Amino acid sequence: MRIALIGYGQMGREVERAALEAGFQVGPVFTSRTNPEGRGLTAEALREVDVCVDFSTPQAVVTNIQRVAEARKPIVVGTTGWYDRWDDVRPVIERAEIGFVYGPNFCLGIHVLFRLVAYGARLFRHLSEFDPYVVEWHHRRKADHPSGTALRLGRILLEHLERKTHLVTRLEGRIPPEGISVASVRAGAHPGTHLVGFDAPFETLEIMHTVRHRRAFALGALAAARFVKDRRGIFSFEEVVEHFLQGGGI
Ligand SMILES: NC(=O)c1ccc[n+]([C@@H]2O[C@H](COP(=O)([O-])OP(=O)(O)OC[C@H]3O[C@@H](n4cnc5c(N)ncnc54)[C@H](OP(=O)(O)O)[C@@H]3O)[C@@H](O)[C@H]2O)c1
Repeated sequence: MRIALIGYGQMGREVERAALEAGFQVGPVFTSRTNPEGRGLTAEALREVDVCVDFSTPQAVVTNIQRVAEARKPIVVGTTGWYDRWDDVRPVIERAEIGFVYGPNFCLGIHVLFRLVAYGARLFRHLSEFDPYVVEWHHRRKADHPSGTALRLGRILLEHLERKTHLVTRLEGRIPPEGISVASVRAGAHPGTHLVGFDAPFETLEIMHTVRHRRAFALGALAAARFVKDRRGIFSFEEVVEHFLQGGGI
């Protein structure tokens, strides 16, 4: 199976290393220099390619998707920060009838964490002394906070705990009883940790997921590439994980 890499930064290079180790063929590789305004992504350039994998930039990715759709190739998009352009992207994919996988977090474990947190919150529904919270750690270069994943975890808690009504991402004075604290730490080169806790007066339960290496995202992208190779339609990475959790094989 041959993948094309769109974006050759930290993630693109990691996907390449993981792909070669896993026996994929890799190339062509597109960067801002070889693919200005998506112009490198022609049907001819992608002729031998089974699946494109995009880890580029929020500015470039929408045009890249449009060009890959015109070439009628499936694509896995790990790039984030473009979801407000969804209305421009969806019709293009549907018209081209290609396979498309997207997601802000390609770690398999984090999707299991989502489910564990939902289950935990349901169990604590009637135990109001257990107060939930979310903490996330990321490297110093990360521009946004809290992370999209931390917000997602917070929303899962809200969904299952009637006694909580909103997330508090910036504290000013004391937190209101119906607020859930979502805190962010930015330091060093940390690839990402998410922790959900439930704190009672005399005990604490915590569930934590840590990315130890970018390879975790790269392996998720390759799993998605295998998944989408012979499929058509739009799939969130969560749907891909669901397929694997049901025994679909990676
Ligand atoms: N889904 C996930 O699990 C996950 C995990 C990690 C990161 N991400 C996301 O993935 C994206 C990339 O992250 P990164 O850390 O690899 O960033 P990065 O190191 O800055 O790399 C970005 C790459 O995109 C290239 N690029 C820019 N314009 C392009 C174009 N028109 N065509 C092709 N390539 C182009 C850049 O090329 P030049 O160097 O030539 O400018 C660079 O190689 C970000 O949006 C990040 O948030 C997602």
